[in-house]
Formats: sequence, C-alpha cells, structure tokens
Amino acid sequence: MSSHGSPIPMSSRACGPLNGTAEVPGDKSISHRSLILGAMAVGETTITGLLEGQDVLDTAKAMRAFGAEVIDHGGGSYSVHGVGVGGFAEPDNVIDCGNSGTGVRLLMGAMATSPISVTFTGDASLNSRPMARVTDPLALFGTQAVGRAGGRLPMTLVGAAEPVPVRYEVPMPSAQVKSAVLLAGLNAPGKTVVIEAEATRDHTERMLAGFGAEITVEDTDAGRVITLTGQPELKPQHIEVPRDPSSAAFPVCAALIVPGSDVLVPGIGLNPTRAGLFTTLREMGADLTYENERLEGGEPVADLRARFSPDLHGIEVPPARAASMIDEYPVLSVVAACATGETVMRGVKELRVKESDRIDAMASGLRANGVEVEDGPDWWIVQGRGHGNIAGGATCQSHLDHRIAMSFLILGMVTQKPVQVDDGGPIATSFPIFEPLMSKLGAQVTRLSA
Ligand code: S3P
Repeated sequence: MSSHGSPIPMSSRACGPLNGTAEVPGDKSISHRSLILGAMAVGETTITGLLEGQDVLDTAKAMRAFGAEVIDHGGGSYSVHGVGVGGFAEPDNVIDCGNSGTGVRLLMGAMATSPISVTFTGDASLNSRPMARVTDPLALFGTQAVGRAGGRLPMTLVGAAEPVPVRYEVPMPSAQVKSAVLLAGLNAPGKTVVIEAEATRDHTERMLAGFGAEITVEDTDAGRVITLTGQPELKPQHIEVPRDPSSAAFPVCAALIVPGSDVLVPGIGLNPTRAGLFTTLREMGADLTYENERLEGGEPVADLRARFSPDLHGIEVPPARAASMIDEYPVLSVVAACATGETVMRGVKELRVKESDRIDAMASGLRANGVEVEDGPDWWIVQGRGHGNIAGGATCQSHLDHRIAMSFLILGMVTQKPVQVDDGGPIATSFPIFEPLMSKLGAQVTRLSA
C-alpha cells in the first residue's frame, strides 16, 4: 500500500545514456526545520525552495494545527507567521505525520515543553517505528508519553508545564533524537546540553544559530557537546532551502551505472554531515566532480557532474562515515551491485529502523534480481556483478519506503530484464518529481496498472 491511497506498481528497464540537467527538489531535513523553527519564531519567516513532498506538507499542516500561519505562495515559496517559543496552541485533532519519522520526532520535541497534549499518528511504516528514543529524553524535561506497546504510535504526549533543562548523551547516531532534545530545550529555562558521540547532520544547530538562539558546539573527546540556552526569542529568517543531496543521489548513481551518461545536478547542499555518499562513490572509481563550489545561506553548495564510470570497484565503507550517508545506503547497494568485487558496509544498525528495515528490503530485492548479498545485525556485503551482468526480472517490495522504491527503479535501468516495484507511491514523500525528472534524462520508468 502507498502511504495515502492504492499501491502504484512501477517498472524500469534498461535505457540509453542519461543526459541533461537534473533539478532535484529542496532538502527534506532543512524543509521540516524551516517550518518548525519558523513557527517558533516571532514574526514572518519566508522560505524558498521548500520540498513539497508529502512528509513536509504533513509538517506544514501540523504547524497550522499548533497555531502558526503557514502560507503557500506557489513554486516552493512559503511564509510562516510564528507564535514564538512556548506559544503553541493545543491542536484540536490528532496530528498525522504520514510516513515521516523526522516530522513526528521533531514535532514531539518542539511541543514537549509546552503545557499542551498532542496525539500523534502516522502510516503503517511510521506506526511501527521506535519512538522511545525520543520520549525517553523528553521525559527528563517532565514530558509524559503514552503510546502502544514498544513505544509505538499512535501516542499522546503531555507537555511539561514546568520544564527543567536537561543534559543528554544521545545513545545512537540520530539527528532526529538530537534535534528533538534541542527543540524541547528551547522552552526550558537554563542550559540544555546534548552530547553526541558521532557527528550527525547539524542542520538544527546551524539553523537555531541563524534564528538567533544562543547555541555553542564543542568538539571534545566524548564527542560533540551542544549547549543551548533556553527561552530565547527566535527572530524570523529568510531561508533558501538547498537541493537535497539525498535526492541527488538517485540521478547521480543512475548516471554512474548507465553507459554513456553525463548528468549535471545543480545546486546540491554539500554539508559535510550529509555528503558521505559522494566521497564513497569517488573511492569506488566514480567519475563524479564538484563544479562551481560556493556557500549559500551558510551551507556549502556545488553542482555535481556524474558521468558513466566503467571501472567501479567495491570498497569497505568506513563505519565512521555512516551517519553522513545513512539515507544513501540503499542506492549505494545498487551501484555496488554494478561494480566489480565486494562492497562491505558495517556499523549501519540504524538502517534497520528507517521507513523500512533497509538492509532486509534491499538484500531481498537484490537477491531476487540475481545479486548476492550477505547481511547481519549491523552489516551487509554486496557482491558486485560488474556492468551488464545483473539478471533483473523480479518484483521488489518497497515496504512503504520511498528510498527503497527509487533504488530498485535505478537498478532496473541496468538489468537484463526490467525490475518492478510493488508500490512507487511512497516516492511522493520526498521526491515527487522523480518520474518526470528521470524520464527527461532518458530513463524508462513506467507505472503499471495495479
Ligand atoms: C533526519 C535524520 C536521519 C535521516 C532522516 C532525516 C533528519 O534520521 O535518516 O531521513 O532530518 O534529522 P535519524 O536521526 O533517525 O538517523
């Protein structure tokens, strides 16, 4: 099933070279945060390039339910009239975050230190994902949470009426958990301290500083120590959302494996906490260059040029790089299948609790299409078959996971027989223009009748 509606079975088949410019949508992480921080500022925040994927639209709807005014000016331009830190109203209804783990976890943090009760729910994928990783630290502020067994949604949070600041060491590499604690810390008096052993994406820290919060980040032997002073008045901002490196990964990887391709993906955010895939691809022998490197709105940005790379070889991906490419392992496994030799991916336990168990979802679909994959609790190894040697022909389950659906559609571009996915509907959560964009480059991606 797609997240909202009937399944959309899709197929992709071998195609000629991919050529042209791929203008991928705005960054999903920055889009969610723009809406939430805009709603917590006093005055009007303006946003351009917002990702209009379902995940972000669900967050916009939630912000309206919390009392902020969110206006759609068309073409990805939005304005948000914020209610200020501590100014959220209690929503009249259940907040449905659809497929979005980022949406629900950030919203839980943002409301946790306001005296309101909010019930959160989502689709079948989101309602099976662990929420205790967020509600445990929020309990330290005084927030109560009651959900289903195993800390699953639907779940009601009662915000702390008299929150206290906390000091929290995040036990897993998770930007969502870190961000939930920081957003909760906004309405607690005094200093909230978050410590992460491994650096994860730092958009929340950068954007909080941009909105005028007092926040410091110190690199220590114990990791990154982030200190936020609570109860600031956040000042409205103008935010230009850079294009999403996690979406750019799909046309980039497709260009590397489809013979003769040459694709330019302009204006991609290359924050070092997000760009691990591109480093990995270059180590595998990818012809991938950064052109026109620049800074936009405080974030490094470049145009990526990806060309067919006939000599891709497997590598051992350093586990320390995992957080900076966590959403890109599914599509990396497709490139690994087309490379020679094995690609070893370790230290990736978090992949098992994403929109789907991404190791299991990719391993099953790759095996069904003729690729050997071994896997364990926090590792997997893909045996490359080299260019043109993958049979294909199987139908893969997308498990309500956009990145799984897109990864298998990229695989089908180089297999001997077409590859089908049972449901491409979830692609709309993060990359609603995936089909027209890939088709314009020359891909053969089609919808099948259900
Ligand atoms: C995100 C953090 C990551 C990532 C997700 C977006 C964010 O999740 O997988 O797609 O915007 O903070 P985790 O924090 O669970 O690793």
